Amino acid sequence: MRSLSTILVTGGAGFIGSNFIHWLFAQPEFTGRVINLDALTYAGNLENLADIEARYGKGAEASGAVPRYVFVQGDICDRPLVERLFAEYGVDTVVHFAAESHVDRSILGPEAFVRTNVLGTYTLLDVARQAWRAPSGGMREDVLFHHVSTDEVFGSLGEEGYFTESTPYDPRSPYSASKAASDHLAKAYHHTYGLPLTLSNCSNNYGPYQFPEKLIPLMILNMLEGKPLPVYGDGRNIRDWLYVEDHNEAVWTIMRNGQSGRTYNIGGENEWENIRLLERLIELVAEEAHLDIARLRGLITYVKDRPGHDRRYAIDCTRLKTELGWRQRISFDEGLRKTIRWYLDHREWVEHVRSGAYRAWIEQNYARRV
Ligand code: NAD
Ligand code: DAU
Repeated sequence: MRSLSTILVTGGAGFIGSNFIHWLFAQPEFTGRVINLDALTYAGNLENLADIEARYGKGAEASGAVPRYVFVQGDICDRPLVERLFAEYGVDTVVHFAAESHVDRSILGPEAFVRTNVLGTYTLLDVARQAWRAPSGGMREDVLFHHVSTDEVFGSLGEEGYFTESTPYDPRSPYSASKAASDHLAKAYHHTYGLPLTLSNCSNNYGPYQFPEKLIPLMILNMLEGKPLPVYGDGRNIRDWLYVEDHNEAVWTIMRNGQSGRTYNIGGENEWENIRLLERLIELVAEEAHLDIARLRGLITYVKDRPGHDRRYAIDCTRLKTELGWRQRISFDEGLRKTIRWYLDHREWVEHVRSGAYRAWIEQNYARRV
């Protein structure tokens, strides 16, 4: 029986990780604690978790009580630090979100991707393997390492077909190659050492707290600011979009009930050509922000394509639906409206993440806690 009570969340200050922590603390069945290990790169921002810190962090608990939320600024490649966290907190579960995650950045500078995504994942796996040894010599059975991955490891589809869990890996960008390497390491640790492991490959996420370099927040903010809307190539590349809460519910479902050693695809079953998505987004932003739709349409600008740009991603998530009973809850229009409203209401957050000003805020509010 999995304990799922002292959960090391890596990358918990990023987009999906911070949404996961919010989501988890909102689940009545979760009574455990979260240790959030994040290096706070450009993509990590503790403002995302200020409410969680206030409610469950150090200052919130009666003196002497153990807080249910602990933030630690640190690098997943720092083995002594990771070992200390396992020992000090008695980590029984890892959910590993931390990564360099943006394809365009991986094309400009692959090294950080290899370091964090490959070496960092190796470090976590290897510390877990040592910390979770059972006295009998095997591995403890009440522990779990959940590795969060992407559909990009499968490569690019033509007009037909879907990625299933048995689709061969064919990564084509430095980002997806580094994620594929991390997936192989995770599976190898299960196969070779018996590390209790689940793994998920998800399609494109969108929602609150997404760094405005990714398509949907970038386009929303450029519309609000009257800037060009850069469409790569012919705009006909296809992605399968999922609201971030649906992703996180799937991750938690797998952590609770997934079979060790098994991988699960997570997807929106919601394919859109980029240009069609942008046209719909323009309609919704015009409505939500009371902007002139013709003026927004006039901002569409075709630009040079991303090198090696994958044409189409589409996930078959039948396994997750039939074996574990998960389903998407948020329709695309509903999710896009929620996301647009969130960016409209959080202009200060946008200023902070763009300018790096949140670093000063962090320094005033947090010290390194180990
Ligand atoms: P993100 O870039 O928003 O956040 C990444 C977080 O990891 C940041 O908080 C950053 O500070 C932290 N981090 C980076 N390097 C670190 C290091 N060396 N040590 C500790 N922390 C470090 O990413 P995201 O979009 O939230 O993605 C989270 C995970 O989900 C990634 O593994 C990604 O591959 C995967 N994923 C993302 C999507 C998507 O659409 N965004 C889809 C499928 C899977
Ligand atoms: O599929 C899952 C992946 O989705 C995750 O693993 C990645 O971490 C995440 O970044 C995302 O990768 P993409 O490359 O698909 O996302 P991005 O938002 O960068 O781009 C989505 C599509 O939009 C893609 O076809 C490129 C295109 N695009 C993107 C940007 C930023 C544009 O046309 N213009 C842009 O300015």
